[in-house]
Amino acid sequence: MTLEAIRYSKGKLSILDQLLLPTQTQYINVNNTNDGWQAIKKMQVRGAPAIAIVGCLSLAVEMLKTDITSSEELGNFICERLDYLVTARPTAVNMGSSAKHFKQRVTTLLKDRDLKVEDFKMIIVEEIEKMLESDRSDNVALAKYGAGDIMERCTHNKARVLTHCNTGSLATAGYGTALGVIRALHEDGNLDHAYCTETRPYNQGARLTAYELVYEKIPATLICDSMAAMLMERKKISAVVVGADRVVANGDTANKIGTYQLAINAKYHNVLFYVACPTTSYDASKSTGADIIIEERPAEELTKIQNIPIAAPGINCWNPAFDVTPAELITGGIITEHGVFKPSELKHKLKPFITKGGL
Ligand code: MRU
Repeated sequence: MTLEAIRYSKGKLSILDQLLLPTQTQYINVNNTNDGWQAIKKMQVRGAPAIAIVGCLSLAVEMLKTDITSSEELGNFICERLDYLVTARPTAVNMGSSAKHFKQRVTTLLKDRDLKVEDFKMIIVEEIEKMLESDRSDNVALAKYGAGDIMERCTHNKARVLTHCNTGSLATAGYGTALGVIRALHEDGNLDHAYCTETRPYNQGARLTAYELVYEKIPATLICDSMAAMLMERKKISAVVVGADRVVANGDTANKIGTYQLAINAKYHNVLFYVACPTTSYDASKSTGADIIIEERPAEELTKIQNIPIAAPGINCWNPAFDVTPAELITGGIITEHGVFKPSELKHKLKPFITKGGL
């Protein structure tokens, strides 16, 4: 059984507190959008798809408790709460696209004057609930395409893959994106070895990806971020596969800080560099990576680990949580649930799957 980061049954939501992993496995209840916002901001849940799913499910839970009796009022409440959830973390597009989509659904449903407020509520709640299953099935499809492409282009019988940050079951509704590709290679007997970076400063690789790889019994090795060039030089890496917080129209990709330097390293060493991007992480409204807002996080994430100081007191810190990898460095391609595309093809290939509402 794969790890379950999000537990939901009608009106009841709990999440695995990712700040406590790998030493403690503790689920916390999310009773409303204030809890959802806090959990996202504190990174008790993180990863672009999981942020949107938990944000929206926190709204579903709160909606099921409200006793609002007018459709207008309910519509305003949903839109206001969605806008609030988007403010928790700015870089990943998924929560923003979901908000846009559900706000548009509210506008459409309000046009139906015969729709009772309870039915209006249940339509939105059930559509939110569907996000869990559709994210999971998208990940499985994406992973199959990614694993297939790697094996077609790999010069060895089995692939050796390096990944960064955490893009697995913990970052999604299940299976994972970049880590899903590694999982699919392993399931098909095509994985020689996976390598994961520690992912400083917040150690999502060491704490979470390593945890998932051990849990799934996938052959894997942890490295520090600073070892990536040496790894590519010495270990015959077939491909680097990373996730995405936002891929824009020209293919430029915002992902966890450190992704950009891995792409430069991969180019130098002739290693294929892939970005795993479900359509929910694609943002057609922005032309290039220069338009993406990069979240900056507190200095303490650099200067302390589990509250223990590791840096000289008084030093200045800069802590951007993400960087932007230029499309030209994405030499393997962008892996989606609809196929693997060159960055330059993405806009055209994904067009049929993008609705006006943003999802
Ligand atoms: O700051 P985080 O941990 O939310 O960053 C996560 C990443 O950068 C992931 O690579 C990305 O969200 C994709 S998760 C499928």
